[in-house]
Amino acid sequence: MMKKLILTVLCLMLASVASAAGGAYIGEPANTNIKSQSSLQKGAKTYMNYCLGCHSMEFQRYNRVAEDLGLTEDEMMSSLVLTDAKFADKMTHTMTKEQGEQWFGKAPPDLTVIAKARGVDWLYNFLINFYVDPSRPSGWNNLTFPNASMPHVLWELQGIREAKFETHTDEAGEKHTEFVGFETIEAGQLSEQAYKDLVRDLVNFLDYSAEPAQLIRMSYAPWVLLFVALFTFLAYLLKVNYFRDVH
Ligand code: HEC
Repeated sequence: MMKKLILTVLCLMLASVASAAGGAYIGEPANTNIKSQSSLQKGAKTYMNYCLGCHSMEFQRYNRVAEDLGLTEDEMMSSLVLTDAKFADKMTHTMTKEQGEQWFGKAPPDLTVIAKARGVDWLYNFLINFYVDPSRPSGWNNLTFPNASMPHVLWELQGIREAKFETHTDEAGEKHTEFVGFETIEAGQLSEQAYKDLVRDLVNFLDYSAEPAQLIRMSYAPWVLLFVALFTFLAYLLKVNYFRDVH
């Protein structure tokens, strides 16, 4: 009886995990480590170099990121900030939504809290699973996010790959297309492992970036408590004053 119950619960849990994944191709876990400051710093650098041009981080400021990642203002401004932005500026770019739609068919979304929406495993697999596809307007397709309108902006690092698919016909005569593997057409600047490490750091940075919103809310807490304490004290004084002559 107990065994059956445990089994049922396990099945339900598995089913919910499967439906949460929504059929996206998640080949391997991201294995990020939010506690590694050097990983976060490397991820931030990759983000500034390869992503910020299209994806703003409206709810992040350079000085905040520098402080959280243990970088001095000098380090931040000289090696990470590539535009003429100021240290206290928000991490924005100059592309408007209309330009984004016109250029890519879809405006690149803000990525401040993308890790909350997609999860680190999805992001990691999205960034390692691009392949060439001449039938797409950008020339690229993606196994984890099929028909995404984002081009493979890290192709020089990863290289150019084709995806191999096989089509089977089952007994009912229905065709099923199955992904069977990638084939490298042109090697990239990085080895497969080095590329995956770079993406892991980048996803780690996206994961961190989704957190400060919570930290900001947390930092209000002491002030709220202080206000409540002060208010209680004032109310007490008032009560003492009002009831002075009542006995
Ligand atoms: C040349 C412009 C461009 C650059 C550079 C770029 N992207 Fe994108 N990205 C796009 C566009 C356009 C989309 C929208 C794709 C869609 O919805 O079909 C997108 C979508 C995404 C999404 C999916 C968002 C969602 O819908 O959940 C993620 C994640 C993402 N980009 C991450 C990155 C990262 C990380 C980098 C840096 C390595 C990067 N992008 C660089 C254009 C760009």
